[in-house]
Amino acid sequence: MEFDLLLRKRRNVYGFQDKAVPDAILHKILENARHVPSAGFTQDFDLVVVRDPAIKRKLAEAGREQEYAGYSGIVRGFIEKAPVVVVPCGNKPRFESKYGSPAEKNSRIPWWLTDSAFSSIILILSAFQEGMAASFIGAIEEKMVAESLNLPADGSIIPLAIIPIGYKHKEERRFDPEMRKKLKTLRQSTNQIHWERWSE
Ligand SMILES: Cc1cc2nc3c(=O)[nH]c(=O)nc-3n(C[C@H](O)[C@H](O)[C@H](O)COP(=O)(O)O)c2cc1C
Repeated sequence: MEFDLLLRKRRNVYGFQDKAVPDAILHKILENARHVPSAGFTQDFDLVVVRDPAIKRKLAEAGREQEYAGYSGIVRGFIEKAPVVVVPCGNKPRFESKYGSPAEKNSRIPWWLTDSAFSSIILILSAFQEGMAASFIGAIEEKMVAESLNLPADGSIIPLAIIPIGYKHKEERRFDPEMRKKLKTLRQSTNQIHWERWSE
């Protein structure tokens, strides 16, 4: 798919078919997600890939899936029933192994989270490129995610989001066409590009 089109086709998708993601495709999109820039090439992020139903159920709870139930167009169990759920995590110790500890002292902003976010968007775009869909759920109960995934108890590995991935469900339609139009207008009307200086 042409890159411009891919960018416009991507949207947060809230419902997936009960259809497995072939291993070869899954490995390809995960590999793509590793090919992102990272601070000092520390590769200070990891991707936890979950297919186990019991762990997905816990992640669904941690992602507050219940709170989405009232919205039309959102398929019930969109996290739990996704064939794959990926949790991108910032890896502070990997950053510290090059830049020293504590990481916060040696970085202007938490680059391990920046790099996790880069990886996330590439993962999501790669999923769409392969004919699938995905969403980025950042409002998560961090402790629950950490417990579900056996993340180190010292908090050094920070879950950024929950990313369900799969083939889009027929009944998924997060926004009706009218709302889509409004969102498009909002995107077009927000001034985010500043030429030469922030302001005159
Ligand atoms: C940092 C971040 C956190 C987000 N967290 C959530 C979330 O918790 N729940 C959710 O439904 N969408 C979440 N989103 C998705 C945005 O709401 C969504 O991208 C935005 O409304 C634009 O819609 P689109 O992605 O379909 O174009 C998040 C997106 C970002 C970038």
